[in-house]
Amino acid sequence: MEPNFDSLKLKPFNPQKIQARKIKFQFSNEIPRLWHDNSLATTHFLNAIGLFLPGFEAFMVRGLKTQLSNINDSELESQIYGFIGQEANHGKAHNQYNQILRQQGYKFDTWLKVMDFILKEIIEKRLSSKICLAAIAGFEHLTTLLAGISLKVNLLEVADYRIRPLWEWHAVEEIEHSSLAFNLLQEIDNSYWLRALGGLLGAILVFGFTIFGMLLLFIQERDFFSFKTLIDLQKLLFTKYKLIPYGWKSVFHYFKFDFHPNNQDILLLAENLSLSLSQT
Ligand SMILES: [Fe+2]
Ligand SMILES: [Fe+2]
Repeated sequence: MEPNFDSLKLKPFNPQKIQARKIKFQFSNEIPRLWHDNSLATTHFLNAIGLFLPGFEAFMVRGLKTQLSNINDSELESQIYGFIGQEANHGKAHNQYNQILRQQGYKFDTWLKVMDFILKEIIEKRLSSKICLAAIAGFEHLTTLLAGISLKVNLLEVADYRIRPLWEWHAVEEIEHSSLAFNLLQEIDNSYWLRALGGLLGAILVFGFTIFGMLLLFIQERDFFSFKTLIDLQKLLFTKYKLIPYGWKSVFHYFKFDFHPNNQDILLLAENLSLSLSQT
């Protein structure tokens, strides 16, 4: 069943007014295992991200709810509620897709429990709420980076049409709320070192979770170590989708003293995509 994007018509793309949109997904179990260009590398790169998103998004929802009591600005408060609603919806939709992966035979539930343990029992319980918020701001920079790259290089053009809308809608909303966690962190504590430390922690979690998730999915494939996989990885990282060159620049940018997550080019790309989704 095609998702219905009417709520994008009712609540058009607007970074100044972040609002949750209920989109109903129903994923077909006929989606091919290698749904991205028949490539093991790009499919499992995105699947690995999809595995940790629900847990990480729940972590962000808890983190931002904790900060609500520190906020007196009603406009910022409503932006936070919009962010919480969007992330909660993303988590639900990716959970639904992860169920398809289970039906296809992939095993990852222990891994999901390990990630949850790291986030809940180590990060949340042992670190301050400010560091957690700084890690969320860093993580959000990376999701915006990935969403932006995917729109710039048309990463989703070759994705199976039954899963493509999930990633496109997610990319649009990630870019729409890309400044929120950063602005909130600045409001709570504008220390550069706190932001930098959080950026580092967010990056370690994202890269660690992605690489481990990819390996876990790879080893469940019969012929995962092939020449094609190496070429596809090279395309993903360096030549076609250029994740490393684009990503490196953007990560470096985050550690500049005067950084602010306001990229007009990416905002425009996301606005155009949200318009075209709302017309489907
Ligand atoms: Fe999200
Ligand atoms: Fe986000």
